[in-house]
Amino acid sequence: MKNVVLLGPPGAGKGTVAARLVQEFKFLHVSTGDMLREEVAQNTPLGQLAKGYMARGELVPDEVILSMVRQRVDAKKGVLFDGFPRTIAQAEGLERFTTVDLVIFLEVEQEEVVRRLSSRVVCSACGAVYNLITQPPRVQGKCDQCGGTLVQREDDKPEVVARRFAVYMRDSAPLVAYYEGRGMLRRVRADRSPDEVFQAIAEVLRS
Ligand code: AP5
Repeated sequence: MKNVVLLGPPGAGKGTVAARLVQEFKFLHVSTGDMLREEVAQNTPLGQLAKGYMARGELVPDEVILSMVRQRVDAKKGVLFDGFPRTIAQAEGLERFTTVDLVIFLEVEQEEVVRRLSSRVVCSACGAVYNLITQPPRVQGKCDQCGGTLVQREDDKPEVVARRFAVYMRDSAPLVAYYEGRGMLRRVRADRSPDEVFQAIAEVLRS
C-alpha cells in the first residue's frame, strides 16, 4: 500500500474524506491536527506546548511535528497523511524516514472554506466531524456515532480562520509546486459533495 499525502487549505475537507479513504483502503491515518488535539486534551507536555500555537492559528514548530509523526509511522502499513507535511521543511524531514508515493491536492476557494469552517461542529467525545449546513447530525447537538456533545472548534472562530488561511498561503501552499515539480501531485476539485470528492480520490488511488 502506498503512502499518500492529503494537501489542501483549512476546511478543504481533508479529515472528512480521510475517514472514508481509511475505511476503504485500510490506511494508517496520520492526522497531525487530531494527534495534537489529543495531546492538548490530555494536557501532556507536547499538548501544553502546542495549545497556544493552535489557538492563534499558527503552525507548531517543525521539529516537534516531525518527531511526533516519526513515532506514529509504521513502515509495514500504507499511511494517509492528513494535514502533514505543512511546510517544505516538514516535507524534507518526512523523506528522511519514509517515502511519499502520491500527493492529493484538494482545490477549493477561500470563500467556500470559510463558509464550511463557520458551520463545522465536531464531537467532543470521538472527534467525528459534521457541518450544520451540508452534513448535519440526525439529532441536533448530538453525535450520530457515539451520542457525544457537538461543539465548535476553538480555532474555527472567524479571526483565527483568517490567520490559519494566511499561514496556509505563506507556509503550505508552496508544497503544491514542490510536489508538482517532482511529478507526485494530483489535483482533485473539492468544491463538490463529500461523496464526489471521495469517488474522485478513490479513482486516482485505484489507477
Ligand atoms: P488541522 O486540524 O490539521 O486543521 P486544518 O488543516 O486547518 O484542517 P481542518 O481540520 O480545519 O479542515 P479539513 O480540511 O480537515 O476539513 P474537514 O474535513 O474538517 O490543524 C489544526 C492546527 O493544528 C493547525 O492550525 C496548527 O496549529 C496545528 N497543526 C496541525 N498539523 C500541523 C503540522 N503538520 N505542522 C504544524 N502545525 C500543525 O471539513 C471542514 C467542514 O466542511 C466540516 O464541517 C465538513 O463537514 C465540511 N465538509 C467537508 N467536505 C465537504 C464537502 N465536500 N462539501 C461540503 N462540506 C464539506
